[in-house]
Amino acid sequence: MLALITGTALQTVLPAPSAVYYRNTPFGAPSAPVRKVELGGGEVLSLTRHGLGGSIAAHLVNYRANVWALKELGATRILATATVGGIDRSLRVGDLVVPNQIIDYTSGREQTYVGSTRINHFDLTSPFDAMLRDGLLRALPGDFEAPQHRSGVYAVTQGPRFETAAEIDRYRKDGCTLVGMTLMPEAALARELEVPYAAVCLVVNPAAGVEAGDIDIPETAVVTEKAIGGLKRYLELAIELLH
Ligand code: HPA
Repeated sequence: MLALITGTALQTVLPAPSAVYYRNTPFGAPSAPVRKVELGGGEVLSLTRHGLGGSIAAHLVNYRANVWALKELGATRILATATVGGIDRSLRVGDLVVPNQIIDYTSGREQTYVGSTRINHFDLTSPFDAMLRDGLLRALPGDFEAPQHRSGVYAVTQGPRFETAAEIDRYRKDGCTLVGMTLMPEAALARELEVPYAAVCLVVNPAAGVEAGDIDIPETAVVTEKAIGGLKRYLELAIELLH
């Protein structure tokens, strides 16, 4: 079954669940109960990453429990949604991006299911699953045809603060085109459990220093609110294509 790991706003526009699962895992409790909902012509599991009230900051999310619980409940594929800042100057607020690469700048997060007694190397050359990305790309509206929408390098920062302008300059030099706080270790944990994973990102602000002045944080919530209906319709189409 397909599973969604969503940001806070999306969860509020999904249909009422047909089932709710309260799960614990060997790694602790997931961010919220997992819901089964009807979306895009089929049933999907859905988990809100920051908890029901949206109060779990990115660096405190129990990514291990989230991915584990979804797999245990039958998730065979995971689609993630995340809001991001645009580093690439051509990205506009409200744009959707289907990233193809990640650079992880976080620290201190639980990165693996394996304890200190065993080494578990696994490949992460391409962190996102090709078939899932294909579905996401085919569903993208025509105005998102530019390469910077159809691919992107996602810089994962620790948060909860946003970045300095110099940090964003550095990430741009590293090749990053968008910045957020959540896709790692989520993507790596999904790979470790061999669950195909891909993400779609909603640009809610120009990253620090990309435009003159400070980032208007309350405005990012307004942008998200405005875009959320469109994101839901987009996901429905993507899920239909993926069923
Ligand atoms: N930086 C980090 N995370 C974010 C941003 C940003 O500019 N916008 C939305 N999530």
